[in-house]
Amino acid sequence: MNAVPSSIESVLVENRVFPPPPQAVQGARIGSMAAYQQLVDEARADPDAFWARLARENLAWTKPFSKTLDESKAPFFEWFADGELNASANCLDRHMGTPVEHKTAIVFESDDGKVTRLTYRELLTRVARFANALKAQGIQKGDRVVLYMPMGIEGVVAMQACARLGATHSVVFGGFSAKALQERIVDVGAVAVITANFQMRGGKELPLKAIVDEALAMGGCEAVKTVLVYERTASAWPRVEGRDKTFAEALQGVSDDCPPVPVGAEHPLFILYTSGSTGKPKGVQHATGGYLLWAKLTMDWTFDLRPEDVFWCTADIGWITGHSYVAYGPLAAGATQLVFEGVPTFPDAGRFWKMIQDHKVSIFYTAPTAIRSLIKAAEADGKVHPDRYDLTSLRLLGSVGEPINPEAWMWFHRHIGGERCPIVDTFWQTETGGHVITPLPGATPLVPGSCTLPLPGIDAAIVDETGNEMPNGAGGMLVIRRPWPSMIRTIWNDPERFKKSYFPPELGGSVYLAGDGAVRSADRGYFRITGRIDDVLNVSGHRMGTMEIESALVSKTDLVAEAAVVGRPDDMTGEAICAFVVLKRARPTGDEAKAIAKELRDWVAREIGPIAKPRDIRFGENLPKTRSGKIMRRLLRSIAKGEAITQDTSTLENPQILAQLGEAY
Ligand code: PRX
Repeated sequence: MNAVPSSIESVLVENRVFPPPPQAVQGARIGSMAAYQQLVDEARADPDAFWARLARENLAWTKPFSKTLDESKAPFFEWFADGELNASANCLDRHMGTPVEHKTAIVFESDDGKVTRLTYRELLTRVARFANALKAQGIQKGDRVVLYMPMGIEGVVAMQACARLGATHSVVFGGFSAKALQERIVDVGAVAVITANFQMRGGKELPLKAIVDEALAMGGCEAVKTVLVYERTASAWPRVEGRDKTFAEALQGVSDDCPPVPVGAEHPLFILYTSGSTGKPKGVQHATGGYLLWAKLTMDWTFDLRPEDVFWCTADIGWITGHSYVAYGPLAAGATQLVFEGVPTFPDAGRFWKMIQDHKVSIFYTAPTAIRSLIKAAEADGKVHPDRYDLTSLRLLGSVGEPINPEAWMWFHRHIGGERCPIVDTFWQTETGGHVITPLPGATPLVPGSCTLPLPGIDAAIVDETGNEMPNGAGGMLVIRRPWPSMIRTIWNDPERFKKSYFPPELGGSVYLAGDGAVRSADRGYFRITGRIDDVLNVSGHRMGTMEIESALVSKTDLVAEAAVVGRPDDMTGEAICAFVVLKRARPTGDEAKAIAKELRDWVAREIGPIAKPRDIRFGENLPKTRSGKIMRRLLRSIAKGEAITQDTSTLENPQILAQLGEAY
């Protein structure tokens, strides 16, 4: 199959331009490049006035703020700090008494195709009741609550209920292992865990509660007094008396009414862990006011949300995309959204297309990896080809999480968008809270593979190591020079790491370093993201730290002496994880090597989760090191790619191991 070749070559020659189609321009909030430029100019002329205006227009404040941005503790920027609001009230209560009250908030489709609908009024009642249940467990403002939940209404309700009480949630993706969950519970200092007995994915029942039990038994989690269990399936699960309660038990007798607790705008709404360049994941802390403003604003700017839209973001609530564009943004904007429990390939790879058809989805927001795997499935089996479905309800497509190669972009445009829907290729990160560089559907001429231009107020630039701006056409590091409301506030428990990771002194100490490389096109100045510049990989749109995987491998102390992990490009998953391993016993070959590679993959899945399993494992008697003992990672990357070694290996202490590492298991 040739539909998904490596993107690099073709991006360099990309010169197709797709101007916004008339139906996207008509009635658009930002309906021309001139209108975009006007907002950019307004933001540049007086940033404080610009953000203050938008924060007042877009959010309901219980106490108005008097100061917009406080830079006195930079890079610990504070936004709207003396204002007070409640995030859940802004997503739900705010719509009561408006036409949105009885509008459908969530259309939920389960793994096995059952559909449930909830209006905003009904969702508010669900959230208020659940918040009362949390309150009855003693959970209050400032507490941290970990969620380990399937995709579904209950997960969104639990997040909103925490926000309603001013409790800070930390959602852990349901694919992470007990060990990864425990580390997060300990680091965040959770007092409660909200989970489900099982989750349903692709017709399979997968345990969640049992993993929570395992995590809590690992120690350090003594602060967790309550585990609330949503009984997703009828299957039995082990109960710990005095600690565990079902949702039904917790909700018994609670009132439908729960006044939202006002919090300061800087109050942490959530902490979401993501991978960084060291072994330990970082707890990215977001603030209530600035974050929510961004979630709402980008629904309006990037998706140009219309009242009749049916919005579908396929991301899981365990990731930032599921926070901003499932749990908060669509609700703050009063949208009708589809929430899906399952996987795109069950019962077959036509599932997404069927759901778009059945629910008349108008905005479809997904990841390039999903698109690429569905291209492959459609080409292999005509029965699941999108051309066989009625996708005419779509008016806008979005892409997120990794670079989209122009071939996948064109297929998305042609077969899903019917050549009429703009594609917003949204660049952002867990740390940015929401989109920062993205096309606007009614204004921006699109170039496949490019996230185009920064949103108004985002002062993005490409610089060299000393902070000098690079000319168009020359690559460099992506930075954002001015603070913006939804930026990361700190790394939970580690303010020093926050400063070091994102605001390096070489760039002046208050310029945000994104960790991505980028280049601007010579003609339009459009941004194109070239990939991470740190030791972070992007596998199927999921961030994985190479050091995190290395730590997991070397923690298998009976077997592994040393490990190094690098990425290599992969047509389907963007990047693939390649591990180079030195064992404490003789270097294995053949079947023995295969068996040990499997054992190591299973180990990594236990330590982190299946998403971190290395694709290739190569065994050497040693790793290629310089005479001073540094692992030659650049060389490892070439080996992982299967490239001929052109680098100078004369400093290599042990050149014979290059041949050993040539073999992957
Ligand atoms: O490398 C960039 C890539 O994903 C990273 C952020 O990952 P995460 O925090 O998990 O958030 C993913 C969802 C926003 C970035 O540093 N990335 C994200 N969006 C794009 C992208 N790379 C290229 N193009 C994008 N549109």
